Amino acid sequence: MGRSFNSVTRPRSTLILFLLIIPFLCMLTWPCTAAAAQELHKGFEANPNPSISSFQPLLNDSSGKFSFGLLRVNSTQLALAVLHVPSSETLWIANSTTLPRWSDHTKVFFNGSLVISDPRTRTFWSTQTQGDKLVLLNNSNLQIQKALDNSNNFPTILWQSFDHPTNTLVETQNFTSTMTIVSSNGLYSMRLGNYFIGLYAKFDSDSDQIYWKHKALQARAQIIEGGGPIHVRVDPDGWLGMYQNETAPVDVESFNSFQRTLEGLLMVRLEPDGNLKAYYWSGSSWGLDYEAITDTCELPNPCGSYGLCTPGTGCSCMDNTTEFSSGSCSGSASYSYDPCTDPKSQNDIKISRRKGVDVPFKELMRYETTPSLEECENTCEMNCSCYGSVYNNASGFCYILDYPIQTLLGTGDDSKVGYFKIREEAKKKRIYPGLGVGIGLLGAALLCLIGAIGFGSYKIWVNKRRVNRILEEETGGAMSGPYKDLGSASFRSIEMCSGSHR
Ligand SMILES: *[C@@H]1O[C@H](CO)[C@@H](O)[C@H](O)[C@H]1NC(C)=O
Ligand SMILES: *[C@@H]1O[C@H](CO)[C@@H](O)[C@H](O)[C@H]1NC(C)=O
Ligand SMILES: *[C@@H]1O[C@H](CO)[C@@H](O)[C@H](O)[C@H]1NC(C)=O
Ligand SMILES: *[C@@H]1O[C@H](CO)[C@@H](O)[C@H](O)[C@H]1NC(C)=O
Ligand SMILES: *[C@@H]1O[C@H](CO)[C@@H](O)[C@H](O)[C@H]1NC(C)=O
Ligand SMILES: *[C@@H]1O[C@H](CO)[C@@H](O)[C@H](O)[C@H]1NC(C)=O
Ligand SMILES: *[C@@H]1O[C@H](CO)[C@@H](O)[C@H](O)[C@H]1NC(C)=O
Ligand SMILES: *[C@@H]1O[C@H](CO)[C@@H](O)[C@H](O)[C@H]1NC(C)=O
Ligand SMILES: *[C@@H]1O[C@H](CO)[C@@H](O)[C@H](O)[C@H]1NC(C)=O
Ligand SMILES: *[C@@H]1O[C@H](CO)[C@@H](O)[C@H](O)[C@H]1NC(C)=O
Repeated sequence: MGRSFNSVTRPRSTLILFLLIIPFLCMLTWPCTAAAAQELHKGFEANPNPSISSFQPLLNDSSGKFSFGLLRVNSTQLALAVLHVPSSETLWIANSTTLPRWSDHTKVFFNGSLVISDPRTRTFWSTQTQGDKLVLLNNSNLQIQKALDNSNNFPTILWQSFDHPTNTLVETQNFTSTMTIVSSNGLYSMRLGNYFIGLYAKFDSDSDQIYWKHKALQARAQIIEGGGPIHVRVDPDGWLGMYQNETAPVDVESFNSFQRTLEGLLMVRLEPDGNLKAYYWSGSSWGLDYEAITDTCELPNPCGSYGLCTPGTGCSCMDNTTEFSSGSCSGSASYSYDPCTDPKSQNDIKISRRKGVDVPFKELMRYETTPSLEECENTCEMNCSCYGSVYNNASGFCYILDYPIQTLLGTGDDSKVGYFKIREEAKKKRIYPGLGVGIGLLGAALLCLIGAIGFGSYKIWVNKRRVNRILEEETGGAMSGPYKDLGSASFRSIEMCSGSHR
C-alpha cells in the first residue's frame, strides 16, 4: 500500500505531504495495520510496510493483549516477533541467524510453514511444518496447528513459539530441559540441569561458566531419581515452579506478588547483565517482582573485565594504576585471543598480582587444593588455557579461571591473592596516561557505535567490553537489540521500578 508512494519522485515538500496523508489514505482505503484475523491460513502473505517504523501486526490474540507481526529492528531489518501490546515489550523473536531487510523484497508467508524469505535469494527462517493454520493464543503462544481431524477435540500442535523461547518466559509457559533462553546480548543463558536451574556465562567461545544455580528444595514434593527430567513454569500466582510431574512442584521460588493474584501478566526474563528477573504488568508499567541475584557483585561481570567489585563500595580496577571510568577499566588488557592456539603470543604475557581479591560465585567455580600460593600460580602458569588464579591461603583452595578475566570480588582479606596473565601489548598502553585516555576514548567511541548498532543499552557495554567477537559468533548479531529498540521507554520504567522495589 504505502509502497506505491515510494517509487514516486517529486519535490521534497510534496513527498512530505504524501507521508503525512498516508495514514489517512490507509484508513479510508485499506487497513495499513493488516487487520488481525484471529488465525492465518495457508496462502497468507505479507510484506513489510515501509511507513511503519516499529511494529506491523499480522495476528492478534483474542484478548488483544498480544500481537504477532513484523518487528522493525535497527531501522533497516525485520524480525518476526510476538509483542505484549500495552507495553510494546517483545516477548518472543524468531531466532533467524540473519535478519532480512525491511524492504519490498522480503516476504513473510504461511504455506503450512511460517516462512521469512527473499524470493529472489533465500529463505531466512522457516518452521518447516505442514500445518493448516497459524494461531496466537491468549497467553502469547504462537502455534501452527493441523485442522481438527477426528474424535479428538483438540487441534494437533505442530510447532509453537513456547517451545523456542528467546530471552523471556511468560506465565503458563513451560520451560523444559531441552530449551535454553539467552540474554539479548547473547552472553548469558538459562538451562535446566539435573534438578536445578542454572545460569551460564559465555565469556569466550569455549567457556560455559555457571554463575547461579538453584536446586529444587523439595518442600512440597520429593524428586524421584530416574523419574524423568524437571521442567519449570511461571505461575500466574507469582512464583516459579519446578516440576517433575504435574501433581506437585518440587520447588517453589516465590516472587513479591506471591499469591496476591494480580491481574497483570507475569514474565521472567534473562537480562543482558546476566540477572534473571520477574516482572508483572501493572496496567501502566512493568514492576520488578523478583531477581535471582540481589547482590550486584555476584553478577557475572558487573564491572567489566579486569574490574573489581567490592560489596558496599562498587567498582574499581584490579590494576590500581587504572581508573574505573565510564563503566570499565579502560586501558586494561584485552585478552581476546586464545593463548593455546597462538603460542607465540605466550611471550607477550605479563603477570599481574593483586592481594585482597576473590572469585565471585565461588561455590560454583572450579578449584584445586594446593599447599602454597606458588604451587597455585604454577598450575596456572603452565597451562595455556588458564587466564588467572585466585589462591585462598586459609583454605588452600586454588581457583582456576579458565576464561578471560572478568570482574572479581574485592575483599579486605590479604590472604587471598590473585594471579593474572595480562597481554604485554595492552600493558604498554597504561604506561602513557595520555595515550591510554586516547585509546580509552577511541574504545568508548567504538562502543558507542556498537551500542547504536543494536545492543542499545548503556548497561550492556558497561558489562561487556571485549566480547563483541563472541556476540557475533554466537548470535550472528541477530538476537540482540530488537526489544531494546522498541521497549526502551518501558524499560526505563522497569529500571525505575527496580529501584523502588528493593
Ligand atoms: C491488532 O492489534 C494492533 C495493535 O498491535 C491494533 O492496531 C489492531 O487494530 C488490532 N487489530 C484487531 C483486528 O484487533
Ligand atoms: C534456533 O532454534 C532452532 C530450533 O528451533 C535451533 O536448532 C537453533 O540452534 C536456534 N538458533 C539459534 C541461533 O539460536
Ligand atoms: C513453503 O515454502 C517454502 C519456501 O519457499 C518451501 O521450502 C516449502 O516447501 C513450502 N512448503 C509447502 C508445504 O508448500
Ligand atoms: C484464554 O483462553 C482460554 C480458552 O482458550 C480461556 O479459558 C482463558 O480464560 C483465557 N484467558 C484469558 C486471560 O483470557
Ligand atoms: C505445560 O505443561 C503442562 C503439563 O505438561 C500442561 O498441562 C500445560 O498445558 C503446559 N502449558 C502450556 C502453556 O503449554
Ligand atoms: C508425582 O509426584 C508426587 C509427589 O512426589 C507423587 O506422589 C506421585 O505419585 C507422582 N505421580 C506420578 C504420575 O509420577
Ligand atoms: C597499588 O598496588 C601495589 C601492590 O599491589 C601497591 O604497592 C601500591 O601502593 C598501590 N598503589 C596505590 C596507588 O594504591
Ligand atoms: C588446563 O586447564 C584446563 C581448564 O582449566 C583444564 O581443563 C586442563 O585439564 C588443564 N590441563 C592440564 C594439563 O592441567
Ligand atoms: C599462609 O598460611 C600459612 C600457614 O597456613 C602462614 O604461615 C602464612 O603466613 C600465610 N600467609 C599469608 C600471606 O597469610
Ligand atoms: C544496524 O544498522 C547499521 C546501519 O544503519 C548497520 O551498519 C549495522 O550493521 C546494523 N546492525 C546490525 C546488528 O545488523
